[in-house]
Amino acid sequence: MAADAGYDASERLMAVLDGLDAAVYAADARGGEILFANRAFRALHGDYDPVGMVLRGVVVPLPERGDYRVDPRGLAAADVPCELFDGELPQPRSGRWYHVREQAVRWVDGRVVRLGIATDVTLRKRTAEIARQQEERISRTARLITMGEMASMLAHEINQPLAAIANYCNGCVVRMEAGATAAELQPVMKKAAAQAERAGKIIHRIREFVKKSEPRRVGVAVAAILDDALAFVDLDAQRRGIRLVVDVAPDLPEVLADRIMIEQVVLNLVRNGFDAMKDAVADERVLTVRARASGERAVEIAVIDRGHGIDEEDRDRLFQPFFTTKSEGMGMGLAICRSIVEYHDGRLTVEANPEGGTIFAFTLPVEESVRD
Ligand SMILES: Nc1ncnc2c1ncn2[C@@H]1O[C@H](COP(=O)(O)OP(=O)(O)O)[C@@H](O)[C@H]1O
Ligand SMILES: [Mg+2]
Repeated sequence: MAADAGYDASERLMAVLDGLDAAVYAADARGGEILFANRAFRALHGDYDPVGMVLRGVVVPLPERGDYRVDPRGLAAADVPCELFDGELPQPRSGRWYHVREQAVRWVDGRVVRLGIATDVTLRKRTAEIARQQEERISRTARLITMGEMASMLAHEINQPLAAIANYCNGCVVRMEAGATAAELQPVMKKAAAQAERAGKIIHRIREFVKKSEPRRVGVAVAAILDDALAFVDLDAQRRGIRLVVDVAPDLPEVLADRIMIEQVVLNLVRNGFDAMKDAVADERVLTVRARASGERAVEIAVIDRGHGIDEEDRDRLFQPFFTTKSEGMGMGLAICRSIVEYHDGRLTVEANPEGGTIFAFTLPVEESVRD
């Protein structure tokens, strides 16, 4: 190759190595004397030319003796090339991480050398670390949704049908004493029976929840979630004189969700809305549950009340566990809601309702396979 005249193979090799972003070094396999350091290595080294010095893990980290596949010190010319090390190492002085690969090769002067190439992988490491932390946060949040918390909330719900049953039964007793006929008592008894069934369903849900060790996310219709959840509160709404409006956009895609968990979120938000309207005038006692698409990949469920709204200074604390402004509140509702929604890769937000009151809204991801 005439064009390369006067420019031999080893010089070409050095030129190529000099052009690399990774730090490259060649060190005598026996004594560790640096025979070559490319531009990137020298740049890391800083002050003076490292060639001639003994390679130590000061500039880029080096494997420990025991980490080598074969001891480079004992290698003969006939043994090379061979791989010595390939792995990621931290550089304690700088806190950076390097991917280091060392091979034993015959150097241009015939000696056996450790030819190393060290690539800075700190950024990738950090990204992986952030992802790991995120993962941990999610599993921590998922742990917050413990069986106990969910079960205690569901147990709380049993009180409602039980109280209703007691009411209906007492009502019957009063009517019987007044000489009511069986036909007059029958509808009341039917209502009591329906409430008993409702209590049974709640217990069934607790069983389901306890049985399941892991939340299970499957494709589910938002309307079905809302139907189920609101069945638990319509009686309560009636009693409180609240009109429940359900507004579900047609043709919503299915969402990927653990149905019981999301029902729990809806229930919590609806109950909070009810509580907030405790002192509202009769024709403002309206609670709207609205579901609509949020972009292509998510559905937003909003619970809209016309209650007393939220004080500016409370806004940041609402989601903290045990924050409550109610005399009998637990303050766990919103904390659990947020955990559940984040577990579902969604977001739970709160804003003031322009008509007065508050809007809590959360998103759920659309079930991908259903969209195809
Ligand atoms: N829809 C709402 N309107 C006004 N304030 C609300 C609403 N939802 C929640 N809050 C406020 O957030 C607090 C925390 O709610 P939550 O975590 O559900 O606990 P709890 O309902 O037991 O108080 C409530 O005590 C209340 O002050
Ligand atoms: Mg609550």
